[in-house]
Amino acid sequence: MDQRQDRALRARAEAVIPGGMYGHQSTGLLPDDYPQFFAKGRNAHLWDVDGNRYLDFMCAYGPNLFGYGHETIDAAYIGQLQHGDTLTGPSALIVELAEALTAMVTHADWAIFCKNGTDATTMALVTARAQTRRKIVIRARGAYHGSAPWCTPRPTGALDSERSHQIFCDYNDVASLEAAVAEAGDDLAAIFAAPFKHDAFVDQAEPDPTYAQRARQLCDQTGAMLVVDDVRAGFRLSRDCSWSRLGVQPDLSTWGKCIANGHPISALLGSDSARKGAAAIYATGSFWYQAAPMAAALETLRLIRETDYLGHLETLGQHLADGLRERAAAQGFGFRVTGPVQMPLFLFDDDPDLRKGFHWSSQMLAQGVYVHPWHNMFMCAAMTLEDMDQALNAADVAFKSLKKDGPGLQPVAKMAFLTGG
Ligand SMILES: Cc1ncc(COP(=O)(O)O)c(C=O)c1O
Repeated sequence: MDQRQDRALRARAEAVIPGGMYGHQSTGLLPDDYPQFFAKGRNAHLWDVDGNRYLDFMCAYGPNLFGYGHETIDAAYIGQLQHGDTLTGPSALIVELAEALTAMVTHADWAIFCKNGTDATTMALVTARAQTRRKIVIRARGAYHGSAPWCTPRPTGALDSERSHQIFCDYNDVASLEAAVAEAGDDLAAIFAAPFKHDAFVDQAEPDPTYAQRARQLCDQTGAMLVVDDVRAGFRLSRDCSWSRLGVQPDLSTWGKCIANGHPISALLGSDSARKGAAAIYATGSFWYQAAPMAAALETLRLIRETDYLGHLETLGQHLADGLRERAAAQGFGFRVTGPVQMPLFLFDDDPDLRKGFHWSSQMLAQGVYVHPWHNMFMCAAMTLEDMDQALNAADVAFKSLKKDGPGLQPVAKMAFLTGG
């Protein structure tokens, strides 16, 4: 695998980008052979700057839902760009898009648009506090709500005061949720919830309906707002808010990533129960009203409503999960595929520092299949059953390689933090 351009860019980046690269798209915690820089994406595939082509199971960490460079979505974007994008005021599309989303998402009566998931989750926090005039929010340990000081998983530079008035509970654990609500007393503004447990490094878990229903009940009893953070999972599990599958409607839901198939837009959706608070907060950004991503979002939502993409993602995901389990078992590996099949996470048994996962993932990469060793992955509608079979054939080779080389694998130094090193 040629990596010369990637290595050269990394060397230049060291000088001009702090740490060489930042955030979740840094390859700092990936195997050393993973490329840092990419040149092109088309449908389900990705090319790195050295021209290596991959079947991409990360889908840009979620935004790619219908395929990179989707013809009609990008045509809508480019068409609007030619009329105007960042203007002195919003276009008519902001109303159309709010109408489209509130028609699709059962609990939603209104929408505010922004750019990143963190904008939406932070606005949800502020809206809940404005609506209830209370301070405390309850969150599940390990759940991710973004990179702002109140929620960043790496709080260097954030003040304790910015992270105050939060109580943590364990996802799917009703007793721990109830204890957190009791501790909040009469100052509970919101309960935040992920659509399912999609924390990094550990097995994923479907939401327990009893937990979801109890969260709704506790909010109703205390007058707090229930927030579902659908930034990562939105529209990959359902055409509605993800907890609608459990019959639970939140007051607020946050969206981003795939709602315009990769064009920059996110949203806070809310029910009338949170409208007063939302109208009272100062919500704005220079680029929050851009019309071109709204045009792309409208076309993405049309495809969500009118195509069988969701059934297709489930078929692909099930085929992949079944095939991987079979192949792993045939080679004698304990290999866990967890979470919804269209957003799977792969982990090996007895692999605390991920040395097996790193080796296996590198073997997949060498065969043109980009998987992630510790973060959930994403299916896109441009993938085919033939792509899944390509991934399964690659997995067979990777399991065999791991069987041969496994006993001699060295600890992965960069993952030592997982085992307390
Ligand atoms: C569940 C969840 N919430 C919020 C965010 C933050 O979104 P963004 O990175 O667009 O700010 C993410 C991003 O991965 C996410 O997965």
